[in-house]
Parts: sequence; C-alpha cells; structure tokens
Amino acid sequence: MTSVTSLTAQVQQRLANAISATRPEADADPLLRRSDRADFQANGILALAKKAKANPRELATEVVGHIVTGDVIKDVEVSGPGFLNITVADRAITGNLAARHADGERLGVPLKEQAGITVVDYAQPNVAKEMHVGHLRSAVIGDALRGMLDFTGEQTIGRHHIGDWGTQFGMLIQYLFEHPGELAPAEDVDGEQAMSNLNRVYKASRAVFDSDEEFKERARKRVVALQSGDKETLELWQQFVDESKVYFYSVFEKLDMEIRDDEIVGESAYNDGMPETARLLEEMGVAVRSEGALVVFFDEIRGKDDQPVPLIVQKADGGFGYAASDLTAIRNRVQDLHATSLLYVVDVRQSLHFKMVFETARRAGWLTDEVTAHNMGYGTVLGADGKPFKTREGETVRLEDLLDEAVQRAAEVVREKAQDLTEVEIQERAAQVGIGAVKYADLSTSPNRDYKFDLDQMVSLNGDTSVYLQYAYARIQSILRKAGDVRPAAHPELELHAAERALGLHLDAFGDTVFEAAAEYAPHKLAAYLYQLASLYTSFYDKCPVLKAESPEQVRNRLFLCDVTARTLHQGMALLGIRTPERL
Ligand code: ARG
Repeated sequence: MTSVTSLTAQVQQRLANAISATRPEADADPLLRRSDRADFQANGILALAKKAKANPRELATEVVGHIVTGDVIKDVEVSGPGFLNITVADRAITGNLAARHADGERLGVPLKEQAGITVVDYAQPNVAKEMHVGHLRSAVIGDALRGMLDFTGEQTIGRHHIGDWGTQFGMLIQYLFEHPGELAPAEDVDGEQAMSNLNRVYKASRAVFDSDEEFKERARKRVVALQSGDKETLELWQQFVDESKVYFYSVFEKLDMEIRDDEIVGESAYNDGMPETARLLEEMGVAVRSEGALVVFFDEIRGKDDQPVPLIVQKADGGFGYAASDLTAIRNRVQDLHATSLLYVVDVRQSLHFKMVFETARRAGWLTDEVTAHNMGYGTVLGADGKPFKTREGETVRLEDLLDEAVQRAAEVVREKAQDLTEVEIQERAAQVGIGAVKYADLSTSPNRDYKFDLDQMVSLNGDTSVYLQYAYARIQSILRKAGDVRPAAHPELELHAAERALGLHLDAFGDTVFEAAAEYAPHKLAAYLYQLASLYTSFYDKCPVLKAESPEQVRNRLFLCDVTARTLHQGMALLGIRTPERL
C-alpha cells in the first residue's frame, strides 16, 4: 500500500509555507478551494492582510514570490482584491493518478493516523413486528457510514439494538404457553412464513388480551417471570426472537446487506446490567426518586406548562425500560468495547431520548470528554404526495413489498436497455439496480431531511440516481473491453484537455472527500461527489475521443483515465453499499 498525497493537500502545504516565509509570525489558513477560473483559488491572504494592516494585493504578490513552482504548481496569479489563482501542472495530475492507479482498491487513500473505535448502532428492528421504511433508513445509512469509516481506517463495531424485551412479550409468551405449537420452529420457515406466523400469533394474543381480564393478569405475571429469568418463559421468548431473526435476515439479504449474528445485541442483552445501572445512578445522585420512579431531571428540557420532562430509568412498578437498556449499553460500549465514538442511526423523533441518555451518561462519568456520542437522527420517508409514506389504505408499507417493487421497476429499465443480456442476467442486474436505487435515493439526501420515496424518479436514467452512476460504470467497462489488448497506461508527458483536467482533479479528491464525509457522518457528500464524477466523465467522453484519439499514447492515457474513473466509481459505490455491474 502506497498512499498518495492529494494535489489539494500539496498545494495547501506550498501556500502555507509561502505565507509563513512572508509573515513568519502569522499562521494563516490559505483557504484553498476548487475554482472555475483556475484549478484552485486561495482567499486567505485577505484576512491576513487585514490583521497585518497591509495592502492585500501587495501582500499577495509578496506571498507569490515565495511559492515554489515548476513541479506541482505551474502558475500562480494574483487576482481581484488579493486572491490567488493557482494552476496545477498537467504532469502532476497524471502523475498523482498513476500512483493511485498502482495502489489497487485503496486508490492511494491513506489510513487515518489516529484511528478510534466507533460503535455504530443501526438496523434495529423489533422482534415480532414487521419492519417499515424507518428501519430501512437506519440500515442503509448505518451500513454506508460503517463502510466509509472502515475505509478511513477507523475500527467499527456494529450493534443492532433490536427491540427484543419489554412488557409486550408477556402477552405473546403467555399466549404461546397456552397454545403450544402455534409458532412453527424457526428452522422450518422462510422469512415470509416467519413474519406471517408472528403476525398471526400477535393478532390472536392481542384479541385475547383485550377481551379477557384474567388472561391480561396472567400476561402481566409472565412479564415478571421473564424479567426474573424463569427458564420456561425464556425458552418461549427465545422462540419469538429466533422466528423474528429468520425474517430480519431475509429482509437484510434482499437489501444486499451483511448483518453479523454476533452484532445483534438487543435490549435483552442489557437486562442483567440494568439494576446496577439504576443503583449507581441513584448512589451518585444523578437519578432521584419521584413518585416511586427513578428519574433524571434536566434544567433545560421542559414540556407543556414548563414542567420538567424527566428521563425514566426505573418505573414505579420496578420495571426497566428503553432508557435503562440504552444507559447500560453505553457502559458496555465504552468500558468493555473501548469505544471512542458512539454513533446511533435512529429516527430524529428519538433525538430527545438520546439527548437525555447522553447527558445522564456524562453526569455519571460513563461518557467522558474522550468519547463522543452522536445521534444521526434521520428524517421521515414520505410518499410521492409529500405525506408520510403509507399504503392507499393508510397502513404502513411492508418493507419487502417496497423492495420487490423497486426491483421490478428496475427490471423494466434494464430490459429496455439490455442488448446482449439473458433473462437470468436481467433479473440479476435488476436486483442490483433496484436495491441500489433505493439505497442511493436515501443516501443522496442529507440524512436529517425527509425524502420522497418516488420509484419512478429513483430508477430514472437521467438525474442524480444510482442507475445513472451504474450506467456510467458499465459504459467504461465496455470501452475497456473494446480496447482489447491495448492496456490503459499513464503518460504524464501529455498535455491534458480541459475536460481531462477537470476529471483528473476530481478523481484526485476522492480520498479527501471520503475522509470529510466520514468525519461529518455525511454519506450524501460522497454521493454528491460520485454524481459529479459521473458528470465530469460524461463531458470528458463527449469531448475527448478515447479509442480514436490521435496517438497510441493518447489512447492509452485516456483509457487510463477511464480506468481510474471506473475504479473510483466502483469503490465509492461499494462504500455506500451499492453494486456496480460490469455490464448493463
Ligand atoms: N428498536 C428501536 C425502534 O424500532 C430502535 C433502537 C435504536 N437504538 C437504540 N440504542 N435505542 O424504534
């Protein structure tokens, strides 16, 4: 592995050196950014001049005198009130890309020097319940964030905090206890059967629960038995968990997402630690007794009538809930897993819950200044009409139905374009295109915003869609195949066309973009980068003939640009969890 320093970073360094050579006492940021006028523009001299009470143009001219040019930087010009316009040498662009090309999958992107451990809490459906679009978002965003973080060298640990504990299980277990055999063994069912069994048992038990007071009482006692670890009760509970897992796995497989069993650590896993969590909080005075319950108050969090809203650690009846499991999970993640960052990919509607949980953990010293905790709260999925996504009958949409429909729509698109594909190949591509479309639509919007689930738009070949990116990739592969024996090779001595320069500079920024997007937990920044990459490639392809270029060197160099583009698209999409088929 050889890491490559991006041209942006190299130019930045040169400018910083020149600034300190001019004004040794100043440590000004050159404020470098990509520009249309030249390759880069630096605006930092203005602030520096203001501070030093100097004439900005004169200062800029002085700085230019100290900039080392000739290799990386071809030309620097002072413009406007004191900006610097910087042009990079063609040779440096091709040279940098050649080093990336030689580095295989990592494309010269270095690994973080001080990597931490991030525990990513994502894809957390609830046992015995159907998954909905909210769970889709958590899974898709969480998986992409993990991919990006891992690529930077951060170590990630997944935690699927599934809803597998709580009072609702009393009713289910009691029903199963009284009607043995209603739930087929998990090893005998597929995902769909598992969910339909669970639904049936849920409905049947609900009906008894609502109509039979004595059953209600038995169900209540069952909750106590569950929490105190009664063996027979736990066995029945386990049946619900196992049956649900069959269903979860089938959905995750459809989503083309790998979920590891050892990372499914649900609410129940923290059951044993919850009494201690409560005891410690009470001893430290972080939590107090109020009307029999153990709660934590916050000055700034108030509800209606300006009454403080507390976090409930333990209910008056002694039961522990959602907050207690999250607090216990924090102790485990920080103290046992040694996490330096905790990331929760959970609906924004739970952000108050997390705010209170984090604050409580900080007061208790379980979260220290060395550990960051963040709720990546995502917005709501809306229907094409802009209202929360529901079926025409007003019910929540079943996740599998939605995914199946996406794949079906994708099949239509693929079939229309397919020239030499067999039916089997069409179906295989359709899955990659359809699921990719669903993921990309989610990831290309800033996570905290709502977005419209609009399949027509998602599988469109025009616009900011994954299909557009997948076609760009497949087109490049087809060119590389057509080139046959002519292999891509860098020729740094060649002068570059403006479209080649624009493409090349963008390709060189891949690693910087992934680092920025990972640090900000912003997959949409990577998506936007990839979309722009495909657009720049399209204009390069329009303006610069590849196989018919004027010289053999030119052909090879352009094939090389094609190849670096393809690999960057492939890697970038892979980080987002999206496939790039070789042919479409
Ligand atoms: N199962 C919960 C739900 O469906 C999400 C769990 C989020 N994670 C957590 N640590 N609380 O709403």
